[in-house]
Amino acid sequence: MHTATTQARQTTRIDNLRIGNTAIAMPIVQAALSGYSDWPMRVVARRLGAPYTLCEVMLDRFVVEVSKGGKARQYLHVTDEEHPVGGQLMGADPDDFAPATTRLVEAGFDVIDINFGCPVKKVLGRCRGGFHLSQPNVALEIVSRVRDAAPIDVPVTVKMRRGIDDDAESRDNFFEILDGAFDRGVAAITVHGRTVRQRYNGPSSWDFLRHVKQHAGERTILGSGDLFSAANCISMLEKTGVDGVTVARGAIGNPWVFAHAAALLRGEPLPAPPTLHAQREVIRTHFDLATGHYGSKRAGGLMRKFGIKYARMHPESVKVRDAFVAARTPEEWHAVLDRHYRDDLPGQHPPALPEAAETPGAEGCGPVVTDKAR
Ligand SMILES: Cc1cc2nc3c(=O)[nH]c(=O)nc-3n(C[C@H](O)[C@H](O)[C@H](O)COP(=O)(O)O)c2cc1C
Repeated sequence: MHTATTQARQTTRIDNLRIGNTAIAMPIVQAALSGYSDWPMRVVARRLGAPYTLCEVMLDRFVVEVSKGGKARQYLHVTDEEHPVGGQLMGADPDDFAPATTRLVEAGFDVIDINFGCPVKKVLGRCRGGFHLSQPNVALEIVSRVRDAAPIDVPVTVKMRRGIDDDAESRDNFFEILDGAFDRGVAAITVHGRTVRQRYNGPSSWDFLRHVKQHAGERTILGSGDLFSAANCISMLEKTGVDGVTVARGAIGNPWVFAHAAALLRGEPLPAPPTLHAQREVIRTHFDLATGHYGSKRAGGLMRKFGIKYARMHPESVKVRDAFVAARTPEEWHAVLDRHYRDDLPGQHPPALPEAAETPGAEGCGPVVTDKAR
């Protein structure tokens, strides 16, 4: 476990983040989260202070195939209020990346991110995601294709884990890809300090992140792994020296984490968690955005898993979680909200422990990456 800074920050200077020509107002951003960081989640995070968000990963072929129709509207949907926003691609064959890059740029994504991190077995079996960490030549070819296909003013970035495993060869491959990707013009690299083999077990190595930042010098590195609270975000910035951090599981059901981290960055104490009425307003907005985006049937299913995560900020978290689990229809879901959020009691910060961040879908990169989208 990484010790969290719970006091107001005293001294360390932390700069704002730039990704190529794109200025990001604060170095604490919303990570790509398959099955979660869709348009409604991104908009909620953005409205509550996330300066930059990443869309859930999309398969390169999927992006090209769904160029029209309802699925395109759902997945390739970018609105004015969310800029800057990143779109993330995953695939096997370098040839498929250029048309997909063009499509994401047309859709309005400001940054194109390449996924070299997904650890799910089926993805690795299809030579996608984290598999590329074992083949630097192919990985770098993909980087070149994406960089060539994107307009020069659209930054390209990479997301990697720290290797396939802990072997020396994995480490060599990591640095070959990191340096080679920067040489080919990527603007920033996000490093998740777990190996592919590790999946989500055990801690993310922040020592490794510190080492990577020292190696990278002026080149932009973002860190990932074990950011379960605003204080964790500040700790990672201070302890590793990375230029920015990407909040993943810690942002699901806690979009307030960005405003709380901003307060700590300003040297202020950690704000109180939102009261139940403040939570209810945001949760309802999230539901309404999801309904408008997907229709009520699909939104109902999606909001069940978000409700379960939002419940962690309720003083009776277990009871409320169980109530969201049991809600089968949108009406039942709203009844949970009406019943448990009726009195404006103080909320609580979610527990800042990895084991408490148990997240459905965390064993994979979620459903979008399958060949046929949900
Ligand atoms: C459910 C889930 C879905 C994820 N989907 C993606 C994804 O689409 N793209 C990506 O680069 N990383 C994805 N990740 C990895 C996260 O962005 C992040 O690197 C990882 O969860 C470590 O951070 P954490 O320990 O703070 O959660 C996913 C993680 C989880 C748990």
